Amino acid sequence: MVKADVLLGLQWGDEGKGKIVDVLTPRYDAVARFQGGPNAGHTLEFDNKKVVLRSIPSGIFLCRTNIIGGGVVLDPVLFMQEAKEIENNGIDLHKILKISKKAHLILPTHRLLDAANEKAKGASKIGTTGKGIGPTYTDKISRNGLRVGDLFDRFGEKYERCLNRHLDMLRRLGETPETAALERQWLDAVEYLKGYDIIDSEYYINEMLDNGRSLLCEGAQGTMLDVDYGSYPFVTSSNTVCAGACTGLGISPHRIGEVYGIFKAYCTRVGAGPFPTELFDETGKHLRDLGHEYGAVTGRERRCGWIDLVALRYSVMINGVTRLIMMKSDVLDGFGTVRACTAYEIDGKVTDRFPFDADAVDIKPVYTDMPGWNTDLTKATKPEDFPAEFKAYIAFIEKYLGVPVHIVSVGPDRTQTVVVRDL
Ligand code: GDP
Ligand code: IMO
Ligand code: MG
Repeated sequence: MVKADVLLGLQWGDEGKGKIVDVLTPRYDAVARFQGGPNAGHTLEFDNKKVVLRSIPSGIFLCRTNIIGGGVVLDPVLFMQEAKEIENNGIDLHKILKISKKAHLILPTHRLLDAANEKAKGASKIGTTGKGIGPTYTDKISRNGLRVGDLFDRFGEKYERCLNRHLDMLRRLGETPETAALERQWLDAVEYLKGYDIIDSEYYINEMLDNGRSLLCEGAQGTMLDVDYGSYPFVTSSNTVCAGACTGLGISPHRIGEVYGIFKAYCTRVGAGPFPTELFDETGKHLRDLGHEYGAVTGRERRCGWIDLVALRYSVMINGVTRLIMMKSDVLDGFGTVRACTAYEIDGKVTDRFPFDADAVDIKPVYTDMPGWNTDLTKATKPEDFPAEFKAYIAFIEKYLGVPVHIVSVGPDRTQTVVVRDL
């Protein structure tokens, strides 16, 4: 039986999923996004071009079949913008993209509700991407959502009902927005969306696998942003973990093959919430500058810190990761010493577990220091090019996590990718 491999983030997002999905794509017959929406920003760099994908799978440049799965939330306006940009790159998107009928639609009022909810939270706001993600998933769970498949059956009626509910909610939050222009723009984009191949993706995907065609499932966000197992409430509103590929695409757990867990050689987070290894000093600033750590979608500064092996081991456990991928190794090139957090000290007690109340307790990271490598890794093409200190850093991480590293990324370009173990 052909199994579906899953690639997902192990930290707080932005690990470099887009780049690696693009690199792995030629090995697969299809690529599918299983959750999240335009809160994602997946960056691909090749042939001196840089593309940021938000809802469209990162297999779009090298794969004949790309699927937006049922677990995704889709904003027609942003989708249309993104699609046109990709078509300008010479890709015939209508031919290679399929969209699940079960994906939920983000309305302009979902975005307004996202902003109003954040405002109402005041100092305890999440720092969302403002794309309407939370309110759209809330509507889905409360059984009020509007799905892509609804576009073809009494859509006007369903849309009006949804809109009026939202306007009521906004009024109760003290907002009286002018929505006419937003609505017009959205309804135009809906017409554009209807031109795509809108399918029963769960049948399509299972039949594809039955027929021996391979699939890579692309996650968005990261495990520590998962709505159930992330640093709640500072999370996104979907299941970013491996199980999310099953629910988001309608495939059985038996059909999952390799689970690629991807992480940065250090750690970042954007938005509010606990981040035990965050650095507030010059080193943190240095990581941000060297790693160009600014949000691909919002341009916000990403918070930076050393690698957190406690959180990473937790993520490996939750996802059943079988292969690790380490990104942005080159960013650490110039550091005399590199540090890895191997435990937390909380109220004088040392633990290697990620705590339930991470946002409420004071976590002091316990570090192991290792010598840096002072070598430009960006030109490395094979494992033999790696200096001993860098190999030792990888070995230390593998030992702690109990899973082998298969790919090491040494720069943003597609070609700056070193396969260190068989794929
Ligand atoms: P994603 O959301 O997980 O796809 O990651 P993002 O695209 O939001 O952020 C990753 C950023 O790091 C992008 O700007 C990539 O171009 C860049 N990047 C990816 N891999 C590497 C790497 O190995 N080294 C460096 N320096 N940059 C990388
Ligand atoms: P990719 O796929 C990093 C964060 C937001 C905020 C929280 C909730 O590019 O890795 P939301 O808009 O989802 O309700 O925001 O989640 N967040 C991300 N952080 N990368 C992402 O996606 C993110 N998507 C959401 O900053 O803290
Ligand atoms: Mg991103």
